[in-house]
Amino acid sequence: MSNAALAPIDMNKLPKHIAVIMDGNGRWAKKNKVKIALGHRAGTENLREIIRSSSDLGIEALSIFAFSTENWSRPKVEVDALMQLILEFFSSEIDELCEKKVRITMLGDITQLPERQLLALREAEDRTRENGGLRLNIAINYGARAEMVRMVKQIAEKVQAGEISLDSITEDTLSSHLYTAGLPQIDLLIRTSGELRLSNFLLYQCAYAEFVFPPMLWPDYSLKDYHESICEFQKRKRRFGSREE
Ligand code: FPP
Repeated sequence: MSNAALAPIDMNKLPKHIAVIMDGNGRWAKKNKVKIALGHRAGTENLREIIRSSSDLGIEALSIFAFSTENWSRPKVEVDALMQLILEFFSSEIDELCEKKVRITMLGDITQLPERQLLALREAEDRTRENGGLRLNIAINYGARAEMVRMVKQIAEKVQAGEISLDSITEDTLSSHLYTAGLPQIDLLIRTSGELRLSNFLLYQCAYAEFVFPPMLWPDYSLKDYHESICEFQKRKRRFGSREE
């Protein structure tokens, strides 16, 4: 798509960290009378474009929700299709992502994934560890409440071992024990398909996020729509609880 057709983004007001809940693949498959796996496959196609564009725009971090801790309860055929897509995604994209200096980080307990997927994800993290471009966080087997339990346990262990004192615990201590440690908090959260929920995604990190809920199903959400979501964010007045002078 030519840039002229895209909404005019103010490059001085870019969100630092964007989170995306790619919702609507199932309904898209139903609408197009195809199997659910094809819905998820179509959803992977536009995901590629959105990652590429985020990197080109100079967005600092992009966090996408690929598979939740609750998604294991879906029919086996669908879980298998998603696992296969994750594998294909990494083998087809990793070279270009490396070229673009994208650094990939997993959010979630990936040790619970099948071995092939686990190896591919670890390899993607290892290969891109030194890259200084877009931070691409892929949430797989992720749930925000589970992330918070993990964070509390890690901090409690350090207190128990005498490494830190109870009084020294601050909001920064909490942030630095989340999967997103070191990254800015979420500025913009996008959830497609008209659903108005956070669904256990990055609860702590979204404290002051601006929410945009485009009505289209994820596979229909185009690069043009993505740029419009960013423009919508740029129109918002963010006060972070204070009063404008
Ligand atoms: C939500 O739609 C989408 C998911 C549960 C999976 C999203 C995954 C991908 C787009 C591809 C895999 C990711 C990578 C990194 C390759 P839904 O199925 O809940 O839609 P519905 O609400 O219409 O049923």
